[in-house]
Amino acid sequence: MTVKKIAVLTSGGDSQGMNAAVRAVVRSGLYHGLEVFGVQRGFLGLINDDIRPMDLRSVGDIIQRGGTILQTARCEEFKTLEGQQKAVANLRRHGIDGVVVIGGDGSYQGANKLNQHGIKTMGLPGTIDNDIPFTDFTIGFDTAVSIVVDAINKLRDTMTSHERTSVVEVMGRHCGDIALYAGLASGAEAILVPEVEFDLDQIATRMRENFAKGKRHSIIIVAEGVGKGEDIAKRIEKYGIEPRVTVLGHIQRGGTPTHNDRLLASRLGDLAVRKLIEGESGKGCGIVNGVETLTDIDVIVNSRRPFNMELYNLAMRLSQ
Ligand code: ADP
Ligand code: F6P
Repeated sequence: MTVKKIAVLTSGGDSQGMNAAVRAVVRSGLYHGLEVFGVQRGFLGLINDDIRPMDLRSVGDIIQRGGTILQTARCEEFKTLEGQQKAVANLRRHGIDGVVVIGGDGSYQGANKLNQHGIKTMGLPGTIDNDIPFTDFTIGFDTAVSIVVDAINKLRDTMTSHERTSVVEVMGRHCGDIALYAGLASGAEAILVPEVEFDLDQIATRMRENFAKGKRHSIIIVAEGVGKGEDIAKRIEKYGIEPRVTVLGHIQRGGTPTHNDRLLASRLGDLAVRKLIEGESGKGCGIVNGVETLTDIDVIVNSRRPFNMELYNLAMRLSQ
């Protein structure tokens, strides 16, 4: 049986491109003759019945905007059976038979629960962390990496003038991809990520040697999953290195999405709607090597994204 009324929500940490994804779900749904609803504040909005009809104009002028017009939330109540039952009851009262959940790995757990309660549910990977497997990239990752690279360009100027080392702490929770991609793209000497063991003494020694050979600056990029940039800086000071720490924080989650994130969001939003209409449920949408993919959310939430050691090794080879 195909769906007639669908809802879309954004959940967990916001990411650039979520608005483009909401727009794609709404416009694709309307194009295919569905009724489309927007849920305010993620799963919390399902529980509180904060659900309203969307039309073509309600998603106008948002493709270029960061954040999410639907707002987002972290909702502990939805982790309970009672919370889930309230949410499902509200959906059923509206006659909504399909939901598109846009969010990160936690939100996928929630989407899995909705699916288990009999609501046709699709997941879209919306997080800057790039920590969802079975898609090459998540919506927001490309923009977040661009922001980090832009920040490091600026840091390089002042670090070079003072012959200093910049320790840059970036987001990513348990996933080192922001650090990896931004580190490779900005020529960082060290990329500290939770997925790869590192020896800080060795790194600091190599940096000092590089300075002695004429290097005028160095960059250490630290994924938050490894620890605080401030602690890393303290540990390398004894090597005669003069570190300065920058914590990029939530700057990485704002601003206009790149064209890559808008394209990914538009493709995945449309894919989710088409697949709901075909009767699919409990699937996460992705693009792998340019090709649309659907994977069981159950499989996604029980898998870990493989870390790209090839890129990591390349970054290390090039940052002499
Ligand atoms: P993200 O989606 O960015 O990883 P969170 O981990 O905070 O963000 O998850 C977002 C929300 O998803 C949570 O606040 C909660 O409402 C829902 N969620 C997370 N884990 C579960 C779970 N095991 N069961 C039901 N809902 C969950
Ligand atoms: O999951 C996205 C993310 O930005 C992580 O990179 C970070 O650890 C976390 O969210 C920060 O959460 P909050 O916005 O609640 O501080």
